[in-house]
Amino acid sequence: MTQKTELKWWQRGVVYQIYPRSFKDTTGNGVGDLQGIIEKLDYLEHLGVDAIWLSPFYPSPMADFGYDVADYCDVEPLFGDLATFDRLAAAVHARGMKIIVDWVPNHTSDQHKWFIESRSSRDNPKRDWYIWRDPKPDGSPPNNWGSFFGGPAWTFDPSTGQYYMHQFVKEQPELNWRNPEVKAAMLDTLRFWMRRGVDGFRMDVIGLVIKDAALRDNPINPHAPVNLPENDLFSRLIQVYNMDQDEVHAVIREIRATLDEFPDRCGIGELWGPLDRWVKYYGEHGEGLHLPFNFRLMDGMGIKPMTWDAQTLRGVVDAMEATLPDFAWPNYVLGNHDRMRMVTRFGGEAQARVAAMLLLTLRGTPTLYYGDEIGIPDVPVPPEKIQDPQGVNLGAERSRDVCRTPMQWDASPNAGFCPPDVEPWLPFTADYATRNVALMSQDSTSILTLYHQLLAMRQETPALLSGSYRPLDEGVPVDCYVYLREEGETRYLVALNFAAEGRQVLLSAFGQGRVMLSTHLDREEDIALDALALRANEGVVVALR
Ligand code: NOJ
Repeated sequence: MTQKTELKWWQRGVVYQIYPRSFKDTTGNGVGDLQGIIEKLDYLEHLGVDAIWLSPFYPSPMADFGYDVADYCDVEPLFGDLATFDRLAAAVHARGMKIIVDWVPNHTSDQHKWFIESRSSRDNPKRDWYIWRDPKPDGSPPNNWGSFFGGPAWTFDPSTGQYYMHQFVKEQPELNWRNPEVKAAMLDTLRFWMRRGVDGFRMDVIGLVIKDAALRDNPINPHAPVNLPENDLFSRLIQVYNMDQDEVHAVIREIRATLDEFPDRCGIGELWGPLDRWVKYYGEHGEGLHLPFNFRLMDGMGIKPMTWDAQTLRGVVDAMEATLPDFAWPNYVLGNHDRMRMVTRFGGEAQARVAAMLLLTLRGTPTLYYGDEIGIPDVPVPPEKIQDPQGVNLGAERSRDVCRTPMQWDASPNAGFCPPDVEPWLPFTADYATRNVALMSQDSTSILTLYHQLLAMRQETPALLSGSYRPLDEGVPVDCYVYLREEGETRYLVALNFAAEGRQVLLSAFGQGRVMLSTHLDREEDIALDALALRANEGVVVALR
């Protein structure tokens, strides 16, 4: 008898990340807004995603495009107001979907009232809410840490004679999570949004909130690339004392306990690092985060960046499966607002289609990034138009603007993103007249149709939702990746060809099956598994008999 495992929404659902600036502009200023998201919910529902995650929409001077929060409990006027948010949350829930918001606990904006107070004098009650230290005797910063965005992780404040810490831009001072008042105030911001109906949080750089108590120098990285920009102090060091400290897990447990005050909420953490360190964020017995984000299909395992290679991607999944304790639920990410678009990373749309099939048929929660479903690549942004502080400070090739360009809804001027007479905040792809939702949703072989069908199949197929994962070796060419998803007696086989030529997969032990979906979207047929022919860059999902 087939036994269906009861899954939580964040286990059976597919998350879709929206970068609010780039989704849909309804006010005519070239920047997306919350009302725009409301207007596109029908699209998302039809696409088949279950939850949306919104990158920050809080009041912000936008030094890091919203990751510099000036008020955790309000909406940036550029994006709308609290009433718009409430309408959005209600509209999401009315569709049976969930809403996840970004939470930025490590740092605030330098315009946050807490920081304005903190920097006003050394004896201000909020002085200790941030990380202030005296200069070294020679006047230099308190330690050698570098900022992710270039330069030192410290800025001197002449009026009070101390440095404050910021591991991103200097407009993002870091909160002192060792101060119980900070912790209490920040946990209250979670409650604020949960009371407004928020179902989950994506927690920005959560592994950074606790630093080494003595703020020791990080060791020099002997393997740092030689051609780093001069101001990239960060990449010259090994990140030992500024992240993933053992004490962070006590904070994570408190965050989880706060989420648990409300039913069925979900905590997702932005985390990197080696598997053994990363897996600890689930908690020893599942009392940590529900989903520490897993970026390894995108970033690789830290040894070499992800390349389009069947064995490398399989290695990531197998290592993950082997590492997770029974209580821990896997998850996979293939794109976000900080990384090269998947079409660009993997070499083109043909590869991105295979990658999409992988992402949506693995065991675990997939997170999609807006625009990947229509195959948006990195979009060139002229040097004088670069806006991302990482690109401004560390060079054009480090700019993240290229993966944040506006969604392309139709073939009209400005792609239906903003009015025709307005300049969008970032450019579109050169082929937006054909690469857009309106056109591609009518095309039975487009990548958008593939996403739609993969999402529908996943939702209807218990073996894909909760079945076990088993990779196959025998009869599988080295440039193919083949695995089984099994739930009771239902068995699905996923066969992905990474080669730019046809390949044969020889699985005589499996008898007959039916191809349910091909990444080429042109076949649905009964086949014999003893010679499964895959075309160049083709993936198929086969229901086994
Ligand atoms: C990670 C976010 O994803 C990124 O966009 C941001 O710049 C940094 N954290 C700082 O908040």
